[in-house]
Amino acid sequence: MLGDIEKILVDRRQIAEKVKELGKRISSDYKDKQLVIVGVLKGGFIFLADLMREITIPVDVDFISVSSYGSATESSGVVRIIKDLDVDITGKHVLIVEDLVDTGLTLKHLKELLSTRKPLSVKICTAFDKPSRRKIEIEIDYEGIVVPDEFIVGYGLDYAGKYRNLPDICTLKPSVIKG
Ligand code: IMP
Ligand code: MG
Repeated sequence: MLGDIEKILVDRRQIAEKVKELGKRISSDYKDKQLVIVGVLKGGFIFLADLMREITIPVDVDFISVSSYGSATESSGVVRIIKDLDVDITGKHVLIVEDLVDTGLTLKHLKELLSTRKPLSVKICTAFDKPSRRKIEIEIDYEGIVVPDEFIVGYGLDYAGKYRNLPDICTLKPSVIKG
């Protein structure tokens, strides 16, 4: 696995700093509010686990799993729910926690879907952002680290199901990424 890495783009120390900063902001913004953090599986689980521990107010946590039709490296924007929430978000504040916003299509669909359940608010927090790839306009309320238009893995992000366990954000050698 380590032999497939081309370079480290964002290291674990930089990630930890950003997570701390986001946790602080979220804790202050949602003070005295009923917050449900919704982790988007699978990619968001490592970020969510770190972020939660930087949040100092009581929070409820749940997970949703969506699959976007498309190839391994491009999303089509059509999302299908694989696993829905267990928690009822009606009358609560929702914070969607994603690994990375690329075209923005997945989150747009997810936000629209969760908004139909009458939450008090739905906001978005992402660990990484590739704004240069955006296809639609979407407001990122808590933006993590901006990354260039390169395919990245690690810290929850995968290529064909692998590399999620790399602690740093890395690019892969071109020979590893096929088609
Ligand atoms: P979007 O709908 O194009 O914004 O898709 C975002 C999702 O695609 C992310 O949550 C990732 O799961 C996946 N994705 C987009 N770019 C990358 C990447 O560079 N590496 C790994 N996954 C990616
Ligand atoms: Mg994802």
